[in-house]
Amino acid sequence: MDEPRYPRGEDGEAPWWTGVIYQIYPRSFQDTTGNGIGDIAGITAHLPYLEDLGVDAIWISPFYPSPMADFGYDVADYTDVDPLFGTLGDLDDLLSQAHRRGLRVVIDWVPNHTSDRHPWFIESRSGPANPRRDWYVWRDPRPDGSPPNNWSSMFGGPAWKWDEPTGQYYLHSFLEEQPDLNWRNEDVRHAMFDTIRFWLDRGVDGFRIDVAHFVMKDPMLRDQLDPPARPRSMGHPDVHGVYRDLRTILDSYDGERFSVGEIHLADPEEWASYYGTDNDELHMPFNFSLVKTPWDAGAVRDRVEAIEAAVPDGGWPNYVLGNHDERRIAGRVGRDQARVAMMLLLTLRGTATLYYGDEIGMQDQEIPPDAQQDPFGHRVPGEGRDGCRTPMQWDPGPAAGFSTAPAVDLWLPLNADWATTNVAVESDDVTSMLSLTRRLLALRTRMPALRSGEYRTIDGLPEGVYGYERALALDRIRVFLNFTNESRTFDLHPGRVLLSTDPDRTGVVDGSITVTPNEGVILV
Ligand code: GLC
Repeated sequence: MDEPRYPRGEDGEAPWWTGVIYQIYPRSFQDTTGNGIGDIAGITAHLPYLEDLGVDAIWISPFYPSPMADFGYDVADYTDVDPLFGTLGDLDDLLSQAHRRGLRVVIDWVPNHTSDRHPWFIESRSGPANPRRDWYVWRDPRPDGSPPNNWSSMFGGPAWKWDEPTGQYYLHSFLEEQPDLNWRNEDVRHAMFDTIRFWLDRGVDGFRIDVAHFVMKDPMLRDQLDPPARPRSMGHPDVHGVYRDLRTILDSYDGERFSVGEIHLADPEEWASYYGTDNDELHMPFNFSLVKTPWDAGAVRDRVEAIEAAVPDGGWPNYVLGNHDERRIAGRVGRDQARVAMMLLLTLRGTATLYYGDEIGMQDQEIPPDAQQDPFGHRVPGEGRDGCRTPMQWDPGPAAGFSTAPAVDLWLPLNADWATTNVAVESDDVTSMLSLTRRLLALRTRMPALRSGEYRTIDGLPEGVYGYERALALDRIRVFLNFTNESRTFDLHPGRVLLSTDPDRTGVVDGSITVTPNEGVILV
């Protein structure tokens, strides 16, 4: 039999990062100070919950000092904690308590841009002769005074901001408060890699790299041509050198330090190039294809097969159902299919990244215009990302247990369903989304085939049903997911039910099965 293809860690087993990563948006997880905004101590307080849930690691969205123009994705100091979230001491405490519980900690690293209040940018902006001028991307206007090229900001409008006092434009691929660093400048590279070493030395286990593909742009900053022309404002091949260097730094530390890049690229081959030609770049580029694919058995199967084909030998796939930029899975596909989606996420071959609140089936919340926070939504109506960032729902008490502040003072309003969709209520209900998620995570831990086994599509299933096998040595686990709200009957090899989204299904399946509407079932 072929050796199963999964990465080997320091002990020869699958490394921790092949498991399940739980994403925490720190503003929204737990407030311990009563100001209506979550903090680091709030995360530490819930480590027992996360350990019990059965995840391997947490990833914390930015907590750095920041003017919060983009809620922390505008970093003013890469080596500290914003007072809003706590102190460096709180972070050290979180790290040591997480490690004691066997949980790894991944933090966000935002290399493409800083805040416009970062001391580097303040210096850079002070004048063309400043030694840090070249740390950012400054250019003269065109002869008619217009921006140097036609690039657009991802948040709408031109990607260039005119700086009257120094008579040049600077590049901002996102908000004008987020000027792009010039990664072609060696000093920038060194300074940014030093920030990585700072956290590695403190015991951080890995980095989620914000818009990782953006750091290298067309060196001549030429105009963007119409599609299907390649983008010029991101993804220049020189980007691979940056991540080879990063990998060298990570590998020079013990303890399986890890990197995952936020990379939105539709072309599977280009996406996969971020693993490196010899698996020497990122451990993985985030795979958002399940977020982008229509919720349909055939479409999802095709995407999974495309990912399986694209991931290079020695590389490891990964899947994501949602994050702080996307609508929540339960909002996109509905409550019942969210259960099927969770089974899919936790049984495919690859690291699963689970967004906080999805384990209890949190929905997107409609945010009234006067409560809107997200700058993207302010600039481009309809694009606001607040709906998926509402406070975590812990219990049916005041402010859903998120804060001691009155609910009206929370930074974003609670989701309307907080009194019924919450950790406390769902913990007592064996049929809840939380109970299903816990059982799926426990099964993944118990069954090495689910964690590390090979993936194979099962053909010949009725329309609307997607099935696959996970195989390791002699173990064979089969997963059947009914994407429709009708029953479906089909023949299969007999097997024993390990888990179903339908709590009534147990025992042995003999020769044929009728899956109920929206059912997912795992057989051994
Ligand atoms: C990434 C983040 C997003 C942020 C943007 C700019 O896409 O996930 O939240 O607004 O980068 O940093």
